[in-house]
Amino acid sequence: MTSPAPGLDARATAKTASDAAPTAARGAVSADPLYAQVASHYRQAIAAGTMPPGSRMPSVRALMGLHRVSLSTALQACRLLESQGLLQARQRAGYFVRPPRATRLARAAEPRQTEADPARFVGVHERISDILTRGLATDVPVNLSGACAHPTMYPIRALSLQAQRLLRRRPEILGTPPDPRGLVALRVALARLALDARIQLGPDQILITHGCTEALGISLRAVTQPGDAVAVESPTYYGLLQILESLGLRALEIPTSPHTGLSVEALEAAAAREPRLKAVVVVPNLQNPLGAVMPDAAKQALLACCEARDLALIEDDTYALLCDTPQRAIKSWDTTGRVIFCSSLHKTLAPGMRIGWMSAGRWHARVEILKYAQSRPNEMLGQAVVAEFLGAGQMDRHLRALRARLATQRELMAQALSDHLPAGTRLSVPAGGMNLWVELPEGLSSMALFDAALDKGLRLSPGWMYSNSDRFDGFLRINAGIPMDERQRAAIAMLGALCASMRRAQGYTAGP
Ligand SMILES: Cc1ncc(COP(=O)(O)O)c(C=O)c1O
Repeated sequence: MTSPAPGLDARATAKTASDAAPTAARGAVSADPLYAQVASHYRQAIAAGTMPPGSRMPSVRALMGLHRVSLSTALQACRLLESQGLLQARQRAGYFVRPPRATRLARAAEPRQTEADPARFVGVHERISDILTRGLATDVPVNLSGACAHPTMYPIRALSLQAQRLLRRRPEILGTPPDPRGLVALRVALARLALDARIQLGPDQILITHGCTEALGISLRAVTQPGDAVAVESPTYYGLLQILESLGLRALEIPTSPHTGLSVEALEAAAAREPRLKAVVVVPNLQNPLGAVMPDAAKQALLACCEARDLALIEDDTYALLCDTPQRAIKSWDTTGRVIFCSSLHKTLAPGMRIGWMSAGRWHARVEILKYAQSRPNEMLGQAVVAEFLGAGQMDRHLRALRARLATQRELMAQALSDHLPAGTRLSVPAGGMNLWVELPEGLSSMALFDAALDKGLRLSPGWMYSNSDRFDGFLRINAGIPMDERQRAAIAMLGALCASMRRAQGYTAGP
């Protein structure tokens, strides 16, 4: 399709472009042709959300002036972005950022099984270690296996300035034993943050931990004995399975919808058959790996089920602040101290800092002592840096920007997957966060794809990791947290080609 000539209204749009990112293309030393450098400049601005869908691209004449390029270079840059689905040309009006295209991939399906299997001891250690070790041992240009955003999407400059100021002003924090419960200023700031999820807590009800991982481990130690059963979502975060295995607990995997989360009916039925069920661990907002958000009614029904059966409800809040629209925590309905709320700033503020926290209701005194026995307090510097950042009211602005960028990146990733993965692929694009859950067409194995893709420089997260069973070998979790660029696009195209060749080898003839 040939595009109409873009309009020549330079003034308003030139400002947008120079505001978006100053002269990245001009003077840059790059092997790419000039038009590709100009296109890459705007691709980054679109991916960053600086140029949201519907916004006008600078006119061709404005591009010529801004980047000191010829008419044909400016036009080629626009046409490249148009061919990549990022811009659309409007007759006599110029180029505009394309609104998200409906992907041609079908929506993720509801789980096939409606009943839980019996609780089983977890034996995932070997398979997960093998996948993680092989993945980490291979230096890859494109890594879609993580569950964090790109480091540049976190306020690392503000945090590092804060750290430097603190060390200058209060060097004694390096020589003073920290409060075992965590720095009080941080606990106050987190209690304030929890209000957004409608949770009322005092700082004395909060314990700072080494990430959510420690909070989950301590919670389970507080409410179970080896051999007990714990209900978890299926699929679930593999780190939770590793914790269950290390504590000698049995996992009762409950069918979980990619859209509405854990099935409370299936839990009710399974709980009636499992006398040693002691706890439920749930990620109600942006479940990992599915991205599901439980409706409020389901959250309340789950709490009621735990009350009726005297189960501890361990709520993992890791991703909740990344929801496009604010969601309530289950803890906000808890009037009896049954919910152990576990959270972390690892995905939302600072992946390098390992700051988590918990509020354990009726088990709080017990978890304080378990934490002290297990790892002693968190170090003070990181806590003080984060306390200052939160206390200065900078979190809201950071989270707004992070959510907007992730929304754009999810769309771009969904489009790239839709462009390259074979027909029959299904996709869940959640309302927040960075995790996309892909159901491969019948017959494709995520483990086979993991091996083949790793050989070609792409690290994936196979569905096989997210269960104690083999049920999810036909799935992949894809990280949309890294801004889309040509390398990622090429890696997704390569993934599509791998799927197609594996399908051909199995005798399927339909192309993507
Ligand atoms: C659902 C869930 N819970 C907990 C964690 C671990 O959190 P942290 O890194 O804060 O220990 C993760 C990390 O991926 C996760 O996805």
